[in-house]
Amino acid sequence: MRTAYCGQLSAADVGRSVKLAGWVNRRRDLGKLTFVDLRDHTGLVQLLFADDRDDLQSAHTLNREDVLVVHGTVQRRSAGNLNLEMKTGEIEVRVETMAIENRSKTPPFLVDGDGSDATEETRLRYRYVDLRRDRLQKALRLRHCIFRATRDFFSERGFVEVETPVLTKSTPEGARDFLVPSRVHQGSFYALPQSPQLFKQMLMVGGLDRYFQLVKCFRDEDLRADRQPEFTQLDLEVSFPDGPDEIYGLVEGAVARVFRDVLGIELELPFPRLTHADAMGRFGIDKPDMRFGMEIRDVSSLFSRSGFRVFADAVASGGRVAGIVAKRCSGYSRATLDSLQATAVAAGAKGLSWVKVEDPVVSSISKFLSGEELATLIATFEAEKGDLLLLLAGQGIDKALGELRLAVGRKESLAVPGWRFLWVTDFPLFELDEEGNLASAHHAFTSLRPEDYDKIESDPLHIPSYAYDLVLNGTELGSGSIRIHSRELQERIFRRLHITPEDADLRFGWFLQALEYGAPPHGGFALGLDRLAMIMAGESSLRDVIAFPKTANAMCPLTDAPMPAAPKQLAELGISVEEC
Ligand code: AMO
Repeated sequence: MRTAYCGQLSAADVGRSVKLAGWVNRRRDLGKLTFVDLRDHTGLVQLLFADDRDDLQSAHTLNREDVLVVHGTVQRRSAGNLNLEMKTGEIEVRVETMAIENRSKTPPFLVDGDGSDATEETRLRYRYVDLRRDRLQKALRLRHCIFRATRDFFSERGFVEVETPVLTKSTPEGARDFLVPSRVHQGSFYALPQSPQLFKQMLMVGGLDRYFQLVKCFRDEDLRADRQPEFTQLDLEVSFPDGPDEIYGLVEGAVARVFRDVLGIELELPFPRLTHADAMGRFGIDKPDMRFGMEIRDVSSLFSRSGFRVFADAVASGGRVAGIVAKRCSGYSRATLDSLQATAVAAGAKGLSWVKVEDPVVSSISKFLSGEELATLIATFEAEKGDLLLLLAGQGIDKALGELRLAVGRKESLAVPGWRFLWVTDFPLFELDEEGNLASAHHAFTSLRPEDYDKIESDPLHIPSYAYDLVLNGTELGSGSIRIHSRELQERIFRRLHITPEDADLRFGWFLQALEYGAPPHGGFALGLDRLAMIMAGESSLRDVIAFPKTANAMCPLTDAPMPAAPKQLAELGISVEEC
């Protein structure tokens, strides 16, 4: 229906006869002339309707989002009519014929606005209008380019994309499963995969050698800006890997290819690495934002014999005293310090001590510390006049220190622009969950060094594993590990996680059996493609890079899913729903 795209016309096309199709972005009537900005996915062009044409009178009735096909001639705009802010602002199309293909109701928000004239709920309800906005168009095209570059990269390296089942059995990744009732086997349920983890391991046992997949995963968990109930992973697995290094190299290569093909940016390789223990000690978090420094310093040794009981007791009882220097922040008000204290307390700290490096020093703890102690503290932190020390004492204060660092970093806008990737390596094999039970830090299929096997029973919380995360600008982009490929070791891990042999057999018997039929050493990785697209698009919510996302309370306002099922459907499934 068209011979040109709106946003691609330029002065080079003057005199050309074109057919265009698109939506009315805006109409202006100026005396005998009507101007319409016509929009397609490439941008806008101005149409000019002259009033001397009876057959074009309906141009006066055009409204936003009406659908037009026009035929006309590209001409240079008159001098007073140039719009240098518009890509096609030097030209316009003088319309000769017009067909109104469809009329639109008044749209619920402006397509050329910034989206702030409607709630997110309204934008999602009318997502088909929202999708016409330039920002979403760009984000979805960028996403497509990421997918294409990824597929090219792995295909060129002998990887095979294999689809794994969506109706399957639980794959534990730490979230709740979405269940799908079976009609054929009433009372039984499929689980939607939290990831293809066990199937990609099966593919390695099946001799596929190198697998990848751009795959939908499903997790029923509390939603946040960087979490959706269904999301897309770049999932990969290789047989006979040369340790984690081989996986790091593959993932770095893929990410570098994506940045080169999609943004024209050359990333510096290899990405830096930090062990989990160092990340926690220096930044208080397992996904440090490396766009700024402000590292945590441990000053416990200064206080083991201090007269200040709170600090001395913290050290004596196996905790520590540590803090950060907020450069040039000694002017923080009481209210700001109170809000930082609230941040630290919410993250598990008992309180916050602060020292303003002024002349004289002002501090929340000056009456408890000797002048010499204060001076040593300031010197140890290498703090200068105008700086602010923020200190925490006790056990398990890493998280609170990390939160303080991020809070000050955000407040002072310390994160310099750029792409700061980081590998966090050697995650612990086990950790304690919220109820204090032993749980896998990555997942139960992660391998460990043979010299640490004995600790599985004797000292489980101090086993470094072969698990690693990729972090970009403080966001966890992906995780992976070298896997266990022996049934015996896998069962030992299950036992340690208090999964009884009967339960292991019921849930994972099929998987354990496969390990007995020649499972090769293997390892892999999964990268959250929605998160990568979000960061590359400069957005702060996954909803801005997913065509049809769910709201924070897991609803789809466009379709109104989820919905109660019809009684007939429930009867077929043998399910009755009770009010809880
Ligand atoms: P993991 O559970 O760490 O590892 O997931 C890998 C990556 O997937 C992304 N991700 C999400 N993105 C959006 N919404 C969510 N709800 C969500 N949950 C996870 C993150 C995360 O880093 N099978 C293992 C990988 C492996 O061992 O190979 C796994 O799924 O970017």
